[in-house]
Amino acid sequence: MAMLTQGEPRAERVLLTGASGTLGRVLAAGLAAAGYRLILSDLVPFPDPLPEGATFAAADLTDADALAAICPEDVGSIIHFGGINTEKSLDLIYSANIYGTTHVFELAKARRARVIYASSNHTIGFYPRTQQPVSIDDPYRPDGYYGLSKAYAELLGRMFFDKHGIESIHLRIGSCLPEPTETRHLATWLSYPDLIRLVLAALQAGDPRFAVVWGISRNARRWWSGDDAARVGYEPQDDAETYAHSIREESGSAVARHFQGGSMCSRGYTRPDDPDR
Ligand code: NAI
Repeated sequence: MAMLTQGEPRAERVLLTGASGTLGRVLAAGLAAAGYRLILSDLVPFPDPLPEGATFAAADLTDADALAAICPEDVGSIIHFGGINTEKSLDLIYSANIYGTTHVFELAKARRARVIYASSNHTIGFYPRTQQPVSIDDPYRPDGYYGLSKAYAELLGRMFFDKHGIESIHLRIGSCLPEPTETRHLATWLSYPDLIRLVLAALQAGDPRFAVVWGISRNARRWWSGDDAARVGYEPQDDAETYAHSIREESGSAVARHFQGGSMCSRGYTRPDDPDR
């Protein structure tokens, strides 16, 4: 893959999975406005008017041949936002997130494309909030099968770079919402404009190799730091603090409020003893 200077748009086409989802729609508009030629893909139709230069092709991530069939030979990057976005049955998580993401990496290998992956803070959700900052060098502490599937994808990226030289940038997204609504978001919020900045940086990074970046805005009360943001060129501009006066106290159990992953940690939690032991 040719080396590119930071800030140059890449000439190749870009495949966006999960394009019909909440964040996919934000990215479709933002990346098309930045001049990228997008192939949008999802299980379900794209609900908005197609942005300029974009096409849509349906494919199920669990079907490697169907995915390959809609991906042009000259694709330069695959932005992988498709899949299950919360705790669900093991079957669903495995088929969409484990097999689906493996199919995406195999496709990237076949096309010699870069992968930009929607990872999650739920890879490390079981760090208590008293333990911060958490860096990308700290061990995984996934808070469910969903978080485990995200950790798998990061390790897949590590292996594909070491073994095949396939570049990947893993965005450990916190809470990507139009506005922060509860106190946890003061640490975890990622604004939509910062999401677009983050993905543009990942598309344009000169030599990302295998990289992990916290997908959060420049929140004053952030819990996470120590990542590859500088190497990737991500410079967030928003801060959840701007909304601190208007957001509500976090709801949820004591377990949810104890851990960084919030309600994903308390879901199905059965541990009887002191969680910090
Ligand atoms: P979403 O659920 O709105 O979008 C996911 C899309 O993937 C949907 O349009 C769905 O139809 C598609 N999809 C599901 N299974 C598929 C399959 N087998 N084949 C093809 N397409 C399939 O989720 P959202 O919120 O837009 O999240 C996008 C990505 O970002 C997800 O991977 C999620 O885990 C990740 N993420 C999101 C965060 C957030 O704050 N929204 C936080 C952390 C990570």
